[in-house]
Amino acid sequence: MVPGRKSVHKRLMAELFLNPNLPNYFVSRADITSADTASSVVDEYEAANVITFPNLKVDIDHGFWGRVDTDEYPELKKFGPVLMPDLSESEQHRRLRNGLVGKGLDKTTAGQMCDHFMSICRQLLPVYETVFSHYQFERRKVMWRLNTIRAENMHVDTYKRETETHFARMFVNLDSQPRIWHTSWRIQDMVQQAMGTIPPDQLKKLDRGQVWSKLNSSFFGQNSREWWDEQPRHIAFFGPGDVWVVDSRQVAHQIFYGRRALSIDFSVSKQHMKDPARHYLEIAETFRTDNRVAHDLHNARHPQLVA
Ligand SMILES: [Fe+2]
Repeated sequence: MVPGRKSVHKRLMAELFLNPNLPNYFVSRADITSADTASSVVDEYEAANVITFPNLKVDIDHGFWGRVDTDEYPELKKFGPVLMPDLSESEQHRRLRNGLVGKGLDKTTAGQMCDHFMSICRQLLPVYETVFSHYQFERRKVMWRLNTIRAENMHVDTYKRETETHFARMFVNLDSQPRIWHTSWRIQDMVQQAMGTIPPDQLKKLDRGQVWSKLNSSFFGQNSREWWDEQPRHIAFFGPGDVWVVDSRQVAHQIFYGRRALSIDFSVSKQHMKDPARHYLEIAETFRTDNRVAHDLHNARHPQLVA
C-alpha cells in the first residue's frame, strides 16, 4: 500500500453490453484473484479475446490519478517508461523520479507519482507475468495513458512501419470514472468478410503493414478522427481498478471515454508466440495471398462481371 493511504477505493465491476450481431469474445477469468491463483491466458489472448478478471483487486488511489493535471504536464499524457528487471526497485524509483522532474514536475509530486506507480507494478506484475507465463519478455514498457479521450475512431491498432515484435498487453483503469470502450469485429471476422472483395492490384504494392491498414480502413474509415461507421459494437464499462487483457491489434476497439489508465506492454519476439501465425504481419500476408485466390476464383466463375 502507498504510505499515507487509509482505505482501498470501492471498485465497480466491468459491465458489458453485448451486441447479438457480433461474436462474444469476452472471457471472464473469475478464478484469478492474485498471482497465486493465476494461470496462462495466452491461448485466449492470441485467439483475439478480451479477457477480464472480475475478482482481481489492485489497491489503487484513484483519486490521486484522477487529480493529475495533465494539461500542466502534457508529456505525461502518453508516457512509456521502460522497467529494467536488473535494477532494484529503489533505483528504478530514483531514475523514474528524475525523469519526471525532467518533464517539469516538482520533486515531491514526482516522488508521489513514482510511489503510486511502483505500488501498482508491485501488485500487478506478478499476475501479468503468470498470465503470460508462456512468453519471454524483451522490452518492458509500461504506458501511462493519462490523456482524456472521447469517441476516438474504431480501429485495430496500425503502425506507420511494420512492427515485427509481438506484445503482451494488460490494461488497468486508474481513474475514479469508468473507462468506456466500444469493441467490434475481431481480425478473423474482418478477414472472413473482406476475403475476395479487395482488388488484388490494390494490395500488390503495399507492404504487410499497409495491407493491415487497408483492411482496417475498409471497415472503419480512412481517418483516425472518424468516430462514425456502420459496424456493430459491444460496449464495455471498465470500472475503477478493472484489469483486462487484449491484443488490440486483433480486436477492433474505440475508446468512447477514458481519462487515466496504464497498459503493461512488454514486447515478445514473434518466434516466441505460441502461434506465430497470429502475428498481425503474418495475418496480413496470408490475407493478401488468400484474397487474391478468392478474387481470381470469383472472376473465373463470373467472367461477365470482369471489366
Ligand atoms: Fe488502439
